[in-house]
Amino acid sequence: MNNPILEMNHITKEFPGVRALDDVCFTVQEKEIHCLVGENGAGKSTLMKILSGVYPHGDYSGEIIFDGEQQIYANIRDSKNAGIAIIYQELALVPELTVYENIFLGHEIKNGFVIDWNETIQRATEMLKKVKLDVNPTVKVKDLGLGKQQLIEIAKALSMDVKLLILDEPTSALNESDSENLLILLRDLKKHGVTSVLISHKLKEVISIADRVTVLRDGHTICTLDAHQGEVLENVLIKHMVGREINNIYPDRAPRQIGETIFEVKDWTVYDSSIGRTILQDINFNVREGEIVSLAGLMGSGRTELALSLFGNPKNYILHGDMFLDDKKIGFKHPEQAIKAGLAYVTEDRKGNGLILIQDVKQNITLANLRAIADGGVVNSNEEVMVANEYRDSLGIKTPSIEQRVLNLSGGNQQKVSVAKWLFVNPRILILDEPTRGIDVGAKYEIYTIMNRLVEQGMSIIMISSELPEILGMSDRIYIVSSGKIAGEMTTSEASQEKIMQLATNY
Ligand SMILES: Nc1ncnc2c1ncn2[C@@H]1O[C@H](COP(=O)(O)OP(=O)(O)OP(=O)(O)O)[C@@H](O)[C@H]1O
Ligand SMILES: [Mg+2]
Repeated sequence: MNNPILEMNHITKEFPGVRALDDVCFTVQEKEIHCLVGENGAGKSTLMKILSGVYPHGDYSGEIIFDGEQQIYANIRDSKNAGIAIIYQELALVPELTVYENIFLGHEIKNGFVIDWNETIQRATEMLKKVKLDVNPTVKVKDLGLGKQQLIEIAKALSMDVKLLILDEPTSALNESDSENLLILLRDLKKHGVTSVLISHKLKEVISIADRVTVLRDGHTICTLDAHQGEVLENVLIKHMVGREINNIYPDRAPRQIGETIFEVKDWTVYDSSIGRTILQDINFNVREGEIVSLAGLMGSGRTELALSLFGNPKNYILHGDMFLDDKKIGFKHPEQAIKAGLAYVTEDRKGNGLILIQDVKQNITLANLRAIADGGVVNSNEEVMVANEYRDSLGIKTPSIEQRVLNLSGGNQQKVSVAKWLFVNPRILILDEPTRGIDVGAKYEIYTIMNRLVEQGMSIIMISSELPEILGMSDRIYIVSSGKIAGEMTTSEASQEKIMQLATNY
């Protein structure tokens, strides 16, 4: 396995105010699975965007040698033609198009000048088989779950005769079994001669699949570790990533002072008329003051829909049941009313409803609580700057300035901005939906520390998470949601991963 398929030598790339990559060297051997890890903002996505021609030759310094030849890409098409396919952190499929249209979009199969749809569908079916995805190629992509969409992206790459497949955090939004399937597929592709580069913050996954791992930190190559030499170990990876030892993933905390029930949901049933189905049935749960309550469950179990239905119901579901705050019955017609009443919701999807990507960091942080920084209806920009700088420091948001557009931040740092935005609202009930998705180990620790501090001050947190260790590490009480129902409730001291999984899957 000593044949490099790719050598990126002395790559340096600057953005205004940031040197994202500084003399980075990265070598990938033929037919290996090479993982690329590092903290949020370390430069992983940027390096892969250089490789795929998103940032063309001339936009960076250094050289790329692929398949034995020096490469000069002017755009993504050039890298595709050379056999490089990249699957981005945020998926790039067209939701309104069918599966087969998406797979062959951009390289349609033609018979003369017209597209040969029969042949396209047949070839799409073959590609779906290769990625072991059992869906009808004529369904629209928007009707499929994220795990399946991810596999379609890979099918699309395979349809183009790929030699090097790059996946940028493919499993960050996938549930356990979809993630597992994806890893199995990568191993399978490796047997068929496909080399992969995988970017991931899930170190367990990295350890289970990598032949070699390269660690980036602050735009520098730190080291490349070889799994076959026993060098790929969790504590070693963490140390190289963050530059210091971290022994505890969850911060120590004082015993929590939990007060009276402050928020309660009774017989809550939610009907989604856009799909003509009851998606949540007879949900009962409560949260006490100063408590972290988790909603555990599989993806698709209805937890996000529950949060949305409580938080002003932006999707216009038809709701039955009651909601109480301080024993007072409440109901919201719009998220704004929920915010006013003291609720806040950090969504799982920062691209959709979390952030306004074209606005800058400070505007996003203060967005949901403009009143707090306004004098007589006019935003006081000094105060806005002060607030934003405070959160930038306390959450370690990596950005050259708070005037940077959120669009230009790395994925994990966008997530931190979204957390900051809702912390600034200083709500009584904070709903966190997958709060650490795509966030590096060091920053996770920071977010957990902040959560502990908030509940110490009397805030209550409802956390939706698909990471069982995170649920067990952070919550006081756990509700398990399964197929739109509450399948069980337990305190964290009674809980275990097995008990939760059993209720989450067998209800
Ligand atoms: N288009 C851009 N304009 C300005 N700065 C950028 C741009 N893209 C990335 N950066 C900056 O370059 C650095 C590296 O970002 P990159 O997205 O490569 O990080 P990453 O390692 O992929 O992080 P994450 O794990 O959060 O996805 C960051 O400081 C980021 O803010
Ligand atoms: Mg990235």
